[in-house]
Amino acid sequence: MPRQLRIAPSILSSDFSRLGEEVTAVANAGGDWIHLDVMDGHFVPNITFGPPIIKTIRNASDKVFDCHLMIAPADPYLSDFADAGSDIITVHAEAGLHLDRSLQAIRGLGKKAGVAINPATPVDIIQNVLDRVDLILLMTVNPGFGGQAFIPAVLDKIRAVKAMVGDRDIDIEVDGGVTTETAPLVVAAGANILVAGSAVFKGGTPDAYKKNIDAIRSAALAAQS
Ligand code: DX5
Ligand code: ZN
Repeated sequence: MPRQLRIAPSILSSDFSRLGEEVTAVANAGGDWIHLDVMDGHFVPNITFGPPIIKTIRNASDKVFDCHLMIAPADPYLSDFADAGSDIITVHAEAGLHLDRSLQAIRGLGKKAGVAINPATPVDIIQNVLDRVDLILLMTVNPGFGGQAFIPAVLDKIRAVKAMVGDRDIDIEVDGGVTTETAPLVVAAGANILVAGSAVFKGGTPDAYKKNIDAIRSAALAAQS
């Protein structure tokens, strides 16, 4: 039985001048989770937002807040992101020396724990933390920006992680360059959580968001075995 397919719009591609409205709109348009791309200008070459902004938009939707921390170090800030309303907190395996401790800390805060790996990072890095995670995020672009081209080489990594996970209760999330064209590829490889920014927010209206989400979902469902 395949795991439930979910579409997680990344608000990085939304209109930041109306962030609360955009979160409500994309949630009402069918987004299953809200993907929050936190960037510190150190781990990635871009800066976005932190806990105060997440706290501000928390009441814009009751959908799962899927918080992707592209920050290093992450440990000092985990409780702030938890207090701000994150439901899932994902740290990069590359962002610190003590990944097992970071993941335990996230669960200790009562949140679901995720681990993310960049395109060039071998999947072996997560082999020893499978019992510490609820989600594995595979970057299909180099982190920092929306609207980049999908990296097809990551498809083999998705297949490898799917095999590693087996029947464990772990979601496999793909993030970057997800469109109606690439969605079926990543789902066929084993992903069930699809993050999409530019492919969802293109068109700039709630009607467009719904059309875009529906198109990505139907393309993905067609590939679910
Ligand atoms: C990139 C972020 C992604 C990005 C996805 O560092 O982690 O979530 O916003 O944007 P698209 O879907 O436009 O590639
Ligand atoms: Zn992301």
